[in-house]
Amino acid sequence: MFSEKIINWYTENGRNLPWRGIDNPYFIWLSEIILQQTRIEQGRAYYEHFINTYPTVKHLADASEEQILKSWQGLGYYSRARNLHKAARIIAYNLNGKFPQTYEGILSLPGIGKYTASAIASFALRLPYPVVDGNVYRLIARLYSIYTPIGTEKAYREFEQILLRLIDPQRPDQFNHAIMDFGSIFCKPTGSDCPNCPFSNECLAYRNGTVDQLPVRQPAINKKERYFYYFDIRWNSPEENIVIHKREPGDIWQGLYELPLFEAKEPVKPDMILPMATELLNQWFGSTPATIEIGPTVNHTLTHQTIKASFLIAKYLSTPTQIPKTMCAIQMNKLKKIPISRLIDRYLSKM
Ligand code: ADE
Repeated sequence: MFSEKIINWYTENGRNLPWRGIDNPYFIWLSEIILQQTRIEQGRAYYEHFINTYPTVKHLADASEEQILKSWQGLGYYSRARNLHKAARIIAYNLNGKFPQTYEGILSLPGIGKYTASAIASFALRLPYPVVDGNVYRLIARLYSIYTPIGTEKAYREFEQILLRLIDPQRPDQFNHAIMDFGSIFCKPTGSDCPNCPFSNECLAYRNGTVDQLPVRQPAINKKERYFYYFDIRWNSPEENIVIHKREPGDIWQGLYELPLFEAKEPVKPDMILPMATELLNQWFGSTPATIEIGPTVNHTLTHQTIKASFLIAKYLSTPTQIPKTMCAIQMNKLKKIPISRLIDRYLSKM
């Protein structure tokens, strides 16, 4: 039987990870949100940090959004952190601190989709909901020779139906760990050891010689390009100060701090960059800086857009006469206390 065979494989070969062998739904939820789009090794450190800093859902709910964004810094996809906070508040304040005990209840929380709801329901509550992640899609697409493009609603329903027949209702947690690990460790995107696979007899893709064609992916989306001109504005008086601003709702990196920014509809012509920068600084601060130079340029890729960022480095001799309301100056040595977008954090760590 498939479930028995794969659970046996898992017992011998599965990974020993800190969020396994526990049934605290709060910890499992944290691990799953952290692990979305994050490598296990990096995720593990953040997981340890979160369970130590916020040992209960109440601790997470009572923390400020800024504290949570700071803890999240470096993981990217900050809406995950904001939803984590929103859901923690719902659980702590509306549900008396008790994690929902049904799949539907879990699914109704902000930031929790079907995959995460199934993971929490099966790992923490031992309910028979199969997880369908990228590794599981690959394994099932190959075993059953399924050409439906993965990641679509249609594919999710189709793969879920198959898994509902395969799952061991007595051990849904073990089964789900097993399919995720088997997909990740054995049934790899390329270079799998198919002849020694325990499922080589039943795998249709292996039989048909189509292992490398499956799973089928959706065509890549066209990314929108955006042109960001960041201003690194500093002065020494008496400490080294830098100007920052907080990103507004309704766009990427909402609630994070970054450097003052001019966003252009198209790239600014190279010989126009310094005149543009000088004019903007004059408008913002009521005077031109002592020096201004063009710094590095960086491409930053997000899911739906590519940010083409250029940095302009301006130095004033003392505090400028005016600072726009949307910005503030902060001492360089205090920057590590606030949540900063990764793009800016990387830039600052090199300057
Ligand atoms: N990736 C996402 N969730 C995971 C889990 N529970 N174990 C290993 N990798 C994962």
